Amino acid sequence: MIDPFALIVGSGFEQLGLKVLTRSPTKTPYGEPSSAVLTVKIGAARCACIVRHGEGHTLAPHEINYRANLWALHQRGVRACIGVNTVGAIAAGFVPGDLAVPDQLIDYTSGRAATFGGAGTPVVHVDFTEPFAPLLRGHLAAASADCGFRVRGGVYGVTQGPRLETAAEIDRLARDGCAMVGMTAMPEAALARELGIDYAICAVAVNRAAGCAPDGVLIAGQIERFAGLGMQKVAAVLARLASRVGPDAM
Ligand code: HPA
Repeated sequence: MIDPFALIVGSGFEQLGLKVLTRSPTKTPYGEPSSAVLTVKIGAARCACIVRHGEGHTLAPHEINYRANLWALHQRGVRACIGVNTVGAIAAGFVPGDLAVPDQLIDYTSGRAATFGGAGTPVVHVDFTEPFAPLLRGHLAAASADCGFRVRGGVYGVTQGPRLETAAEIDRLARDGCAMVGMTAMPEAALARELGIDYAICAVAVNRAAGCAPDGVLIAGQIERFAGLGMQKVAAVLARLASRVGPDAM
């Protein structure tokens, strides 16, 4: 048995095909989360879920109220959370449609509200040596393997967006050791850590990062082509994971 978990799902929420059972509009001391806290059905289980970019996909990565999202889950008693993120693939052999469970991150974002501390509340310096919970990563990797999907680890480079990167920026991320690039793992992972929520990411590569695709292959076309397939895989992995939690994943 694994611990019950909640979800924060990014682009591709609709393609995941989760059935929404309940919708609880929620307020937090940090404002409103990106969406109501949903209860969704995964296989035979149910779990709490927030739609990171809003149900109308109107929130850019830097506009997301990450603090409200994590706090809303925390105040429901959530102890483990899986982020579902689309990423651009940088590492050789990592191709659109593949899944990844990153084991490290590098934060290239700026200006986001990235802590619950400060401004009159005690400053916290959480240990972030391992930004993702190893046990939860292991469960995600095992569930992916059970489903027959190749899954890779690696470093997730978190960029500010909302624009995609230049080829030179991706070269730099590659030199830094990033295997993938996305825009939303931070400050989500750090805020989860501050609240004591185990957090890991199930990422799906929807495109080769800027400058990594063969000439003439556009990023938008790749995303259109691979997002559906990738999200189907994620749905299968989550259902597999939920089957080991019991009927109330959260
Ligand atoms: N870059 C940043 N974020 C992304 C990408 C990308 O290429 N693809 C999906 N999310």
